[in-house]
Amino acid sequence: MNDQPVRVNRDRLWDTLMRLARIGSYRDAATGLTGVRRLSLTDEDVLARRQVIAWMREADLVVRIDRIGNVYGRRAGTYDDLPCVLMGSHIDTVATAGAFDGTLGVLGGIEVVRTLNEHDVTTLRPVEVGFFTEEEGVRFGTDMLGSAVAAGRLTLDYAHKLTDDAGASIAEELVRRGFAGPEHERRPIPFAYIECHIEQGPILAAAGVDVGIVTGVQSISWQRLELSGAAGHAGTTPIEHRQDAGLAAAAVIVEIRRMCESGQFGELRGTVGKLALEPGQTNVIPASATMTIDMRVPDDDAMTAAEAHLAAFVADLPRGYRVTGRLERMAKTCVVRFNSDVQALLAATADDLGLPYVKAMSGAGHDAQEIAAVCPTAMIFVAGENGGVSHTPREHSNPTACGNGVDLLANAMLRLANQPDR
Ligand code: GLV
Ligand code: MN
Ligand code: MN
Repeated sequence: MNDQPVRVNRDRLWDTLMRLARIGSYRDAATGLTGVRRLSLTDEDVLARRQVIAWMREADLVVRIDRIGNVYGRRAGTYDDLPCVLMGSHIDTVATAGAFDGTLGVLGGIEVVRTLNEHDVTTLRPVEVGFFTEEEGVRFGTDMLGSAVAAGRLTLDYAHKLTDDAGASIAEELVRRGFAGPEHERRPIPFAYIECHIEQGPILAAAGVDVGIVTGVQSISWQRLELSGAAGHAGTTPIEHRQDAGLAAAAVIVEIRRMCESGQFGELRGTVGKLALEPGQTNVIPASATMTIDMRVPDDDAMTAAEAHLAAFVADLPRGYRVTGRLERMAKTCVVRFNSDVQALLAATADDLGLPYVKAMSGAGHDAQEIAAVCPTAMIFVAGENGGVSHTPREHSNPTACGNGVDLLANAMLRLANQPDR
């Protein structure tokens, strides 16, 4: 046990973050920057998984892998039968990522363990660092997948059957990649979970602080919309005869924006981030359109109303556009509020470390919102630069902010890991 605050090695943390960012790095044409692309269970993700596991083992963590490919590294506690304190996040990325989203929580957790090892700090409870499969949902279409399976919200069977755009299933990919682990995915329930994550928004920077305490996560709805019209000649088909699926897609996009601005659905944010027109030729009217719809709002009733409005708008498309639409659910999570005791512990720890903080609700989804269903959970945000932009190579932070966030992670985790009881 150690009553003095521990301080992690910020240079080593930064170096580890930068080293992992080299796996899956690519030249981003839109920004001219170097970004990171490590979609779940691709070659790049597998290389990153192996690297992170190697770092875990170097830190003397005992590694185990569950049946959905979540990876956990364990450091024994003095009373090793007690439930552990878990730190973690994800190392998969969107296709246009920076170096910090998810990785900060995982590599930060490893840095905490390295620091404990160096200073011979023991804990009553075991301590674990984990990373969850397919947090981003970009490849297989459901976000927070590994943590949702670990927490029991989604079944392993549901997850295994999800496929990517090329038809490869998660089950096949886990086996092919050697990450279909033997451990049961419903791991023993931790004593508590803390996730440290880059904020991915502007609140911390505006407040001039490096760290934030996250109060919860807003509701997230992902749907796929397939629109069916009819192909025809671009030059000869009279406008009034068209069944233009591209036009209907545009109407849906504009309607979503109108919904966000209307105030009718609280602080709704809606995004169509993926859109494909078929047959996709200059001189052919689009016969079909497929799009994803991402809606978020920090109020479950507002989300219910927004989904109902969207469904009614889609049902009405044949009248205005002679195009039919079919909505399919990809993922949905309700508003999650993090444990107030863990938030209070984070606040007290930040005060003791002399770290000013603000409290903020998360606009982004996180593994913590799933794990919150099974054990007391909270999150630390770390300020980003460039206005907190994320899911683009412009995402950036700095060694001081990351070091402060991981110092807070280390010391809050230590307080929890030395609690004999709640
Ligand atoms: C995860 O990054 C999300 O989409 O919020
Ligand atoms: Mn993330
Ligand atoms: Mn992300």
